[in-house]
This record gives sequence, C-alpha cells and structure tokens, in this order.
Amino acid sequence: MDRLKQAIQERGLVLSSGVLKVDQFLNHQIDTALMSAVGEEFAHLFEESGVTKVLTIESSGIAPSFMCAHALGTPLIFARKKKSVTMNETTAYASRVYSFTKQETLEVTVSKDFISEGDRVLIIDDFLANGRAALGLCDIASKAGATVAGIGIVIEKSFQEGRQILEEKGYHIESLARIASLENGTVRFVDEPVHSN
Ligand code: G4P
Repeated sequence: MDRLKQAIQERGLVLSSGVLKVDQFLNHQIDTALMSAVGEEFAHLFEESGVTKVLTIESSGIAPSFMCAHALGTPLIFARKKKSVTMNETTAYASRVYSFTKQETLEVTVSKDFISEGDRVLIIDDFLANGRAALGLCDIASKAGATVAGIGIVIEKSFQEGRQILEEKGYHIESLARIASLENGTVRFVDEPVHSN
C-alpha cells in the first residue's frame, strides 16, 4: 500500500536495526485518514473471506481494526491486556502472550459473549514481529470454536519470524507494508530492489 509506505518513509523513525517508531500516525497520534484507507484496504483484501467479527489486541491494534470492521460492516472486539473486574475464567477466553520487545508475558482475555462457534474471525494488528500476539488471538478464536478467516497486519517486519510461523500454521496473512530491513537507519521494503552505489 503506497500511501502507508510513504508515511513510514516520511514520518517513521528507525530507532535501531530492529525497531521502527511510528508514533506520528499509528502508535500515539493517529492519522485518521490514513487509518481509514488502511481499513478499506483490509476490507477489500478479505471481502471474500466471510468475516463475521474482527479481533485485535489493545491498544494500537484498535485504530486500524476499527476502520476495517466498519468497512466490512462487522463488530470489532479487542482483547484486553489487563483483567477486567467483570471477567473471570468462566466468562472469558484467555491466552498467554510473550512479548519479545517488552520481555514480559501477558494474559490476554476476550469475553465469551463476543466470539462463538461459527464465527469467522479476521485478526488485525499494527505490527507483526515474532507473531506471538497474533498466535494468542488465534488461540482465543480456537478456544471459542471459531475459525480464523485471515490475519491482516499494518506493518510486518519480515526479517523477524512472525510471518513464517503463521504461514506454517496455514493462516492467510495480508500485510500492507513489509519491511525487509531497518539496517543503517533506513527502511527497505520487501518488494524494493537494493541499490548499490
Ligand atoms: P509479536 O506480537 O509479533 O511477537 O511482537 P512483539 O512481542 O515483539 O511486540 C510487542 C509489542 O511491540 C507490540 O505492541 C508490537 O506491536 C510492538 N512492536 C513490535 N515491533 C515493533 C516496532 O518495530 N515498532 C513499534 N512501534 N512497535 C513494535 P504492544 O506491546 O501490544 O503495544 P500497544 O499495542 O499497546 O501499543
């Protein structure tokens, strides 16, 4: 998606060879017009997948997934990272997610009221790195007896193992921007030729 790639190039900041900061339009300040276009693109990519619910994880997954769910005409559910006082093991599905970036394990939860057998769930997230968040959401869908209709990612760091792990499990993944490398302070996308001087 060219508009997203342009935003990454012009407004993203490479913090290290592993981390891209996109606080300007995705992770802190949200570019609502860009997120609307992102949502439309996901809706187009998954329009034949029979999606009944969109599922994400708080907090940065909410903006793109909201726009996608709105475009598809489905509800959006976000998995919570902090236990709600109104949810417990009998009322919620839970999955443990390890974050390599933060080096901590979180238990993410979704109320049993909102996903059920027969649902076709589209998982949307802002970043795909090692795939743990997406796997946790797939686990929750499976515990609910639902089918994962696909996985949509705004920014994929293709030099990490997330895509490979998810593909090996047979999931249909669509990433709107695929980053091959963040070396030397430069973003290089997967489908771009490497220029040598
Ligand atoms: P994984 O789910 O693919 O295994 O990723 P990982 O544990 O490494 O990532 C943990 C958190 O860090 C996630 O956000 C993820 O979106 C984010 N993240 C991973 N790589 C990058 C990066 O290069 N840049 C930025 N900006 N974020 C990255 P989170 O903890 O769920 O945060 P939030 O959604 O509450 O903002």
